[in-house]
Amino acid sequence: MTFLELDDVSVTYRIAAGEVPAVRGVSLSLDAGAALGVAGESGSGKSTLAMALLRLLPRGARLGGRILLDGEDVLAMKWGRLRAVRWAEASIVFQGAQHGLNPVRRIGDQIAEPLLVHGLARPEAARGRVAELLEQVGLPTWRARSYPHELSGGQRQRVMIAMALACSPRLIIADEPTTALDVMVQAQVLTLIKQLVAENGISLIMISHDLSVLADVCDQLAVMYAGRLVEHGPAGEVFHEARHPYSQALAAAFPTVGDPASRLAPRGLGGDPPDPMRLPSGCSFHPRCPVAREECPTLDVELWPAGAGRRAACVHVREQSPAATKGETS
Ligand SMILES: Nc1ncnc2c1ncn2[C@@H]1O[C@H](COP(=O)(O)OP(=O)(O)O)[C@@H](O)[C@H]1O
Ligand code: SF4
Ligand SMILES: [Mg+2]
Repeated sequence: MTFLELDDVSVTYRIAAGEVPAVRGVSLSLDAGAALGVAGESGSGKSTLAMALLRLLPRGARLGGRILLDGEDVLAMKWGRLRAVRWAEASIVFQGAQHGLNPVRRIGDQIAEPLLVHGLARPEAARGRVAELLEQVGLPTWRARSYPHELSGGQRQRVMIAMALACSPRLIIADEPTTALDVMVQAQVLTLIKQLVAENGISLIMISHDLSVLADVCDQLAVMYAGRLVEHGPAGEVFHEARHPYSQALAAAFPTVGDPASRLAPRGLGGDPPDPMRLPSGCSFHPRCPVAREECPTLDVELWPAGAGRRAACVHVREQSPAATKGETS
């Protein structure tokens, strides 16, 4: 059953210098209990897309398209309903747990806060729930009395996950949850997230620049470039046999999950991502594309069927599926 559906979602930031088209026409869906990975370099629009899902964008950002959460139109939600959805149905784990925790409050109090604020538990029951959550994320219960600075980076990220789980959400959005952690701790935290969402039947959207991390945790992968979805399909297939040249480059840049060597010397991706205010014409990837054709700077290629349940936006893919219908997903 489809839990989340995005239809032609776009986000444009307005700044003094003009408009920043950060997300451009993204259509995706996520089944209840499934895990979707969103990959792409820094600046490709991943966090913007995540914030758009819960309308957490800064003032002045323009959000277009349609977002259905369990059949309900997020863009049409009244403020009160939106607030309820944000704490009861979906939570976000942001990158850099250090910044998400209050340095002068004990972590047990911080985990209990949403339960108390929303009247989901009385103080005594909340303490019990905090202990249960700490155990679920692999921390000893006495850690409830610790302050954030007494914990390691990995332990703080576990606390953030406990906070995300506190109100029993149906969807967790994890935005680069392990990027700041070293490789061993990263693997442990990823395993934990994977296990918790599976055990609790929670849908997961995990964001990373590292395709290998996402392929390890997720069922489906979506690859973004310059605000657009350029490839989408079953995670293993997209990682091991990417169809879009950009996904191929990303997969080559991070060949093995947790491999420190690949992190130090990412292969296969030259040049920089484009400035969204000065997007290259045609296929935005053309200045960096190793297999670009003469027509690519003038050709705006949409997503095409690229195998069962797969889509990719490249002229080479389009050529190989001449009879296919544009935008079809399977
Ligand atoms: N508040 C903002 N105002 C203006 N531009 C923004 C804002 N936040 C992000 N951007 C721009 O939007 C684009 C996408 O950013 P972001 O969603 O953070 O990408 P990612 O998470 O993939 O690194 C970038 O070009 C970024 O500079
Ligand atoms: S459309 Fe052209 S430039 Fe874009 S990814 Fe495909 S070959 Fe490369
Ligand atoms: Mg981001």
